[in-house]
Amino acid sequence: MLSVLKHPLADHVVTHLRDKTTKPATFRTLAYQLTLMLAIDATRDLETEPKAVETPLEATTGRVLAHEPIVVVAILRAGVSMVQPFLDVFPDVSVGYVGLERDHATAVARSYYKKLPPLAGRRVFVVDPMLATGGSAAQAIDVVKQAGGAAPRLVCIIAAPEGVETVSRRHPDASIHVAVLDRALNERKYILPGLGDFGDRLYGT
Ligand code: PRP
Ligand code: URA
Repeated sequence: MLSVLKHPLADHVVTHLRDKTTKPATFRTLAYQLTLMLAIDATRDLETEPKAVETPLEATTGRVLAHEPIVVVAILRAGVSMVQPFLDVFPDVSVGYVGLERDHATAVARSYYKKLPPLAGRRVFVVDPMLATGGSAAQAIDVVKQAGGAAPRLVCIIAAPEGVETVSRRHPDASIHVAVLDRALNERKYILPGLGDFGDRLYGT
């Protein structure tokens, strides 16, 4: 299942993120803002439970998040930019990392690192801003499932149709949440119109 953010603010922020004149400091802020919107969208079915509270005017019963731990698994390196928004809004989050890097010639991802908290019985969100061929995301979801994470959600800022297709085929149980679905990949497997290399723009490399 693919969910695309449809919100004027998301469109506004993505457009500034795409702009090649946007500097790394602003780029990081925009990535934070978009991830916050995506985190809210991707968690709209979290369990809640009733809680009695007293307002300054009267007693009432509201709802609060049930004690359902969330795990965010970031794909290094660019996925690191998407961790903090989850940590800032959800009370109980643990974080894992999977290191994957695309070979510049083949665009095939190579795994170089893995550190995961317990995943069984937890809601797992795999975060990576760019879903291009889908190779990195599908490989990261393989790792999550091998470690006991069931039906993880993939949260990305920009996706290409090819990446959505690959992940949906290899992991039909994984829902995909994106801010925007772009047109296609170029011959070097970069997303068009895209924003270029997210990690390089994030870290100024
Ligand atoms: C980028 C991006 C994804 C991957 C997407 O990472 O952050 O992880 O490419 O491409 P794919 O869908 O074709 O696999 P990259 O390999 O450039 O590493 P980096 O985050 O260290 O820059
Ligand atoms: N990784 C990126 O950072 N950008 C792309 O367009 C494709 C993969």
